Amino acid sequence: MDKMWSGRFSAGASSLLDKFNASIMFDRKLYKEDIEGSLAHAQMLAKQNILTKEELTQITDGLNQIIVEIESDVFEWNIHDEDLHMGIEKRLTALIGDAGKKLHTARSRNDQVAVDFRRYVLKRNLEIVEGLKLLMSEVLVVARKHTETLIPGMTHLQHAQPTNFAFHLGAYLSMFKRDIERFEDSYRRNNVSPLGCAALAGTPHKIDRDMTAKLLGFDSVSVNCLDTVSDRDFALEILFNISTMMMHISRLSEELVMWSSYEFGFVELSDEYSTGSSIMPQKKNPDVPELLRGKTGRVYGSLMGLLTVMKGLPLAYNKDTQEDKEGVFDSVETAQISLEILKEAIKTMEVKAHNMKSACSVGHLAATDLADYLVEKCDIPFREAHFITGKAVAKSEELKIDLSDIEFKYLHEIDSRISDDVLEFLILKNSMNARTSAGGTSTVRTKEQLAYFETFLQV
Ligand code: ARG
Repeated sequence: MDKMWSGRFSAGASSLLDKFNASIMFDRKLYKEDIEGSLAHAQMLAKQNILTKEELTQITDGLNQIIVEIESDVFEWNIHDEDLHMGIEKRLTALIGDAGKKLHTARSRNDQVAVDFRRYVLKRNLEIVEGLKLLMSEVLVVARKHTETLIPGMTHLQHAQPTNFAFHLGAYLSMFKRDIERFEDSYRRNNVSPLGCAALAGTPHKIDRDMTAKLLGFDSVSVNCLDTVSDRDFALEILFNISTMMMHISRLSEELVMWSSYEFGFVELSDEYSTGSSIMPQKKNPDVPELLRGKTGRVYGSLMGLLTVMKGLPLAYNKDTQEDKEGVFDSVETAQISLEILKEAIKTMEVKAHNMKSACSVGHLAATDLADYLVEKCDIPFREAHFITGKAVAKSEELKIDLSDIEFKYLHEIDSRISDDVLEFLILKNSMNARTSAGGTSTVRTKEQLAYFETFLQV
């Protein structure tokens, strides 16, 4: 069987080359984008009188038939055809004859693949944004119920200050909002049409790039053909954006794994989204967040892989670039299922508010409040206040109690400037609510933050 490019060859390709060179096994995923690109290209060629009306009709009918064949699984994907572009063109020519051979006028596989892959990635950007919005909505449902649920805020994984659970979730809402903005930004920047760049330098045919750009839903045409046929920034950007999103998901997953342990007991994942052990009958394992954490590594691998593929390429197209697709396909699928399952896991988990609150009564979470009291009420410089508070913490340790439970007399012994209104400051809920600065954890501020994310999701 002759290759489409076999004109200058006297010997056929080895089957080993076919196997090594082909992308048709995976790039067939782009069949819709490819055929839509060809339909637009053909329409433009006809308008420019490069194809006759008759030829356009034949090409359009043929391509539409090929869509049906692919979607009903009767299309023959053949490794010998190398990639989907040639597989489809060969079938078109078999169906309609000579008109099929004219379709590739003023086009190269280099701009063709750039169109297909770019459009695939653009669509996925928007779908991932939708997935992120659904996840955010679900996190908001949980957060709204817990604006007064105390949870130990930590630094270095050590108890630091009392916060509330909604405020904690608000941190993740902030991350997911930034993720959405990154995907949207990448969508806007990359929404330019490569079609008509041909092999690398444009074409002498009188084509209308604006027309095909419009037909394919692009905002504009790309500026420099040499760049366009070798540009894979749109693919790198989605890989980076997915990587960053997965990093956020992975951090939340890490917390879910910890929180569902006996040691924390802050949440219980539903049976539906937990797994058992094959040997230990008592186990309920948090496989979902663990896998989310694990899959993050795989996505990073794809990002590093493509960055490395691109780093040494001279202009313009090089076959190395064919390696751009599988990592992106895999990462996109990973992103989409990850968003969905995390949303379900959050929706169905039980929040154990009581345990979160109990955890606040160890670790002297109110220590900063005592220091703040000394500054505010006793006019003591913060450094000195810090030292006095340290003594109060040591005293509490000696008494084997939490600072929030210390009796006034001990505080008074440590520093006589302290009066009994201090006890109000040591109540954990008051401590949480005292942080009223913008972006702070007080219930009032937390509710403002949730309202901000609600507004973001509505527009
Ligand atoms: N299968 C190729 C790819 O995915 C299509 C472009 C091939 N172009 C070429 N000049 N060989 O990158």
